[in-house]
Amino acid sequence: MTPHEPSSREAQIQPHGTEADRLRILELSDQIRHANYLYYTQSSPEISDAAYDKLMQELIRLEEIFPDLAEVDSPTRRVGAGVSATFQPVNHRVPMLSLDNAFGDDELRQWEEKRIRALGMEPDSVIEYACELKIDGLSVSLTYENGRLVCGATRGDGDTGEDITANLRTIAVIPMRLHAPHGESLPELIEVRGEVFMSHHEFARINQEMEESGGKTFANPRNAAAGSLRQKDPTITASRRLDAFFYTVGACEGYTFQSQHDLLATYTKWGLKTNPNIRLCCGAEEVSQFCATWHERKGELPYDIDGVVVKVNSFALQRELGQVSRSPRWAIAYKYPALQVRTKVEAIEVQVGRTGALTPVAYLTPVAVAGVIVSRATLHNQDEIRRKDVRVGDTVVVQRAGEVIPEVVEVVTAERSGEEIVFEMPTECPICSTRVVQPEGEAVVRCPNPLCPRKIEQQIEHFVSRGAMDIEGLGEKQCEQLTSTGLVRDPADLYKLTMENLLGFERMGEKLATRILTNINASRTRPLARLLYGLGIRHVGEHSAEVLASHFGSLEKITMASVEELSAVHEIGATTAQSIATYFADPETADLLNRLKELGVNPQVHAGAPSSDELAGKTFVFTGTLAKMKREEAEALAKRYGARASGSVSKQTSYVVAGESAGSKLTKAQQLGVPVITEDEFLEMISGFGDSAEPDLTLDLFD
Ligand code: IVH
Repeated sequence: MTPHEPSSREAQIQPHGTEADRLRILELSDQIRHANYLYYTQSSPEISDAAYDKLMQELIRLEEIFPDLAEVDSPTRRVGAGVSATFQPVNHRVPMLSLDNAFGDDELRQWEEKRIRALGMEPDSVIEYACELKIDGLSVSLTYENGRLVCGATRGDGDTGEDITANLRTIAVIPMRLHAPHGESLPELIEVRGEVFMSHHEFARINQEMEESGGKTFANPRNAAAGSLRQKDPTITASRRLDAFFYTVGACEGYTFQSQHDLLATYTKWGLKTNPNIRLCCGAEEVSQFCATWHERKGELPYDIDGVVVKVNSFALQRELGQVSRSPRWAIAYKYPALQVRTKVEAIEVQVGRTGALTPVAYLTPVAVAGVIVSRATLHNQDEIRRKDVRVGDTVVVQRAGEVIPEVVEVVTAERSGEEIVFEMPTECPICSTRVVQPEGEAVVRCPNPLCPRKIEQQIEHFVSRGAMDIEGLGEKQCEQLTSTGLVRDPADLYKLTMENLLGFERMGEKLATRILTNINASRTRPLARLLYGLGIRHVGEHSAEVLASHFGSLEKITMASVEELSAVHEIGATTAQSIATYFADPETADLLNRLKELGVNPQVHAGAPSSDELAGKTFVFTGTLAKMKREEAEALAKRYGARASGSVSKQTSYVVAGESAGSKLTKAQQLGVPVITEDEFLEMISGFGDSAEPDLTLDLFD
């Protein structure tokens, strides 16, 4: 409900309120303003969306009851707050509004009933709605004058945003000029509005890059998109491959849209990207079905959505309904329940990782979050624990978003009994009792002991993992046994293992032991990039390992490279270069590499060379959800036979392989007459090629 839609309680309560009400309103306003500042200006929110919504709803309710106490510039009357000094302010000609929320079908039905009443329609009338996915990104406003992009801005506080034209121009899907087919007319001026977002795939790529270069990773794709849009250097934004969908209009001169459906169709015609998953629904019932379908299918999308936006389709009806202070009355956001639940912190324990980093972990009373039982959540480090003030015994809100590790969002302080215990990071390693160190400027505390048994165990686990030497059969348990018995103290020891050694272990039969030994043997000729990654050099992830391997071509050359030579390599930053040089300068590394060599570890350099060239000169675009493999795997398969894999469809594209719910790329392929094939047809096509007649999809395809 909004401050302008009086509740039935309003009449009974006096508008002036008590001193306590006044103070609460001030407190809530301050909290919301601060949250807005962190969210909009700093791009680093500290409270969850759910917590924010709760504060906002309480304030809206209080202002409804005591309208006299509402501040003139109350945050309920603004959409956000704060414009950073870095970018020039831009006044939106028409304010950028926000949406009211409906949680669930009942609220949606009530919302519809109100619209019917407001429009003076018969109670059982049916309104036509345009239902769209609610993209979880950042809204932007693009001003086009006679079809030319003249300005691009953030939403800011709704009235004034920031000029980020230079950054927006780098986004491939944003047209510099609108396209008017057959000389049709374009508006003299239009504020095109939509959402800039980052796909899951790009988010994973950026975070991996951040990790490899020692930078701070982003918590979710939305933050990554926000961080990328607010770069002072547009080349950084350009390297982030942001995406966008357009869905609404601000000011518009010289053109009239009839409906939301008309607007979307026109935008598409003009070359503005719109989301293909839109449906016209008659009445709340059909809308509910659309929302339920996308609640279920949400995971298939390559980007995040946080609900469905339901808009009255006819612009004539929209005008009639108008708006209240912060939101249009013709639209509502149907929100899905947050993937957040409450549970209790039973203990906080510290884990030691392969680099010696001590990570506090909250052990929780097991609870189901979005269908998965969560019993542990990372607390990251001592600073995070202090910031959130998490104590043993606390009731906390935990959140699971996509594939991300569950985390503690906030403490429910109202539930505190006073018995909760404040946690302090240990000053000694919980495994080997060595005094921990905290490098200056770092939040992480580390165990410096190179012989710490847990570090060794984790290093071995990393060395044998899928992305590294891929030694199947050596799981967590086996690594623990191998290292705790002292049989394996570093990766070279793996290549000395015998049948006898392995048979001494629990639940280890001859069959499993043979398999492990065969796999260890096979790993001797893994590609160089995998060995490099497996060594666990700080800041060297899978991608930089590949870059290094293909640049230098041999392990010897990498070991001898200077910091300057390393950092001259494209995509290897200064921190990574320093870390590599330090690692190889260490006599212990030299000793390890010598022993690996003596034991027959002879990494191969593939440099991504195709295993055959049947598809040379062909370009593939994979789109939609594939059933048998991930998109990256399909791309790797195509490359294996000499093809190129691209992210966008053009006349140069040879084939578009379309999976489930393929969207705009499929449409574009059809428009351009590019052949579209199914995943099975693609597999069929390559089945007769080169080395593997039947690609084994369980194998790693990135060799
Ligand atoms: S329409 C006047 N449509 O949701 C209302 N908004 O909470 C204009 N959003 O600020 C918004 N997908 O950033 C609309 N298909 C969609 C959307 C969408 C995401 C965002 C947008 C807006 C926020 C409102």
